[in-house]
Formats: sequence, structure tokens, C-alpha cells
Amino acid sequence: MKPCLSASLMCADWLHLAPTLKALEASCGALHVDIMDGHFCKSLYLSPWSISVIRPATRLPIEAHLMVEHPEDFLEAVAKAGADTIALHAETIERQAFRLVERIHALGCKAGVVLSPATPIAAVESYLNRLELVTVMTVDAGFAGQPFLPEMLEKIRALAAWKHAHGSRFSIQADGGVNCATYRALYEAGTENFVLGSSGLFGLDTDIYAACKRMQTEVEAAIREVTP
Ligand code: DX5
Ligand code: ZN
Repeated sequence: MKPCLSASLMCADWLHLAPTLKALEASCGALHVDIMDGHFCKSLYLSPWSISVIRPATRLPIEAHLMVEHPEDFLEAVAKAGADTIALHAETIERQAFRLVERIHALGCKAGVVLSPATPIAAVESYLNRLELVTVMTVDAGFAGQPFLPEMLEKIRALAAWKHAHGSRFSIQADGGVNCATYRALYEAGTENFVLGSSGLFGLDTDIYAACKRMQTEVEAAIREVTP
């Protein structure tokens, strides 16, 4: 199966958002929105408001990746803004994981968990079967353009094996440094959803249509080598 391509909007050109969303609609399967509070990681990019701006302008599903210390304070706003999936960092929810996953579902959204590179699968194993998305961070959260951490391939392989063994429904997403140098290894390891940021998509060309075309060519070439 081909991976779902999820464009990370914190890397997009917000001055030309409308044409960018049109181009993404033709080449990607989802939009990835990084929401930060300046505390969980020391940066600020997008917000629930950003989701409400793009929601009427696209048919693509929107995933909200919450890099915030208190995700429980954001759930209603993110859902109301129009997110389809809400993904929370495992490190921020360990004392209320089940309750928050249930709340996300009650809000009519899909629920995801995000594992920082140093967080093991064991930390979320007890609720994996309640999720629709598991994101493996392949860089430390917070900034675009960081080098890919090859150690995360083993985590993805283990997660794919767990999913297979338990017949689970969640999709496995990789976020950070996902580009033509890493597509093949990520796909072989069992990644089903690529988050495309600066090196995988938006930095490929100043023209968004050309960038999308190049990204599609690169993904297809990498996948073709794996599936004959
Ligand atoms: C990083 C964000 C990513 C970011 C990845 O904290 O979660 O979504 O856009 O950017 P690249 O692909 O440039 O590493
Ligand atoms: Zn992200």
C-alpha cells in the first residue's frame, strides 16, 4: 500500500496559502498542523486559529499535532476549528491518556499519540488499540529541518510488528526529516504516513506545484524499489 502523504503546514509559505492548499489537494492525502505553546518545545508556529483559516479552503483531512504541555486545554478549540485527527504527545498525557483519547473521540475526531524519539513504545502500549494514528517523531520535536534519527527505524519496525500481531487499526506515521534520503528505509520499516516538511516538500522548489511534482516523483521512486 502507498503511504499517505501529509503536508506539514508550518513549513508552507503562508503568504501564498490559497494556491498552496490547491496544489497540496492534488498531491497529498492530509494536512499536518503543528500546534505549539512555547513551553513543551521552545517555539511557536500554528494554532487552532490556523486550522480554522484553512478548514474552509480545503477538502483534505487535517491532523493537529499538539506540542503543548497541557493538551487537555486545547482539545475543544482544535476540534471546533475543524481538525479531523488530534494527536497528543505521550509525554504529556501519561496520567490521563485513556480519558483524553475518549474525549477526542467524543468530539468526533480521530485520536493519535506522538512518541518523542526518547519515548519507548511501552509507554503507550496499553492504549494503542484505542488509537487511529501513532506518530513516531524521527527528530526531537519543535523545529523543521533537523537531521533524521536513524535509531527510530527500529522503533517503527517494532510498532509495525505490534500492530500486525494485534490486528490494530492505527496508522504509523513518521514526522521529522522525512525526505528522499529516508523514504525507502521508512517505508521498509512499516511507515504508512509520511509527514512532509522542509526537505521532503516545501524546500524542493519555490513553486509549490513544482515542489509537489518533485516530491511525488521522489516518493514513487523510493517505493517502487521496495515493492516490485
Ligand atoms: C517538527 C514538526 C514537523 C516538521 C518537520 O517538530 O512536528 O511536522 O514540520 O519538518 P521537517 O520535515 O523539515 O523535519
Ligand atoms: Zn508534526
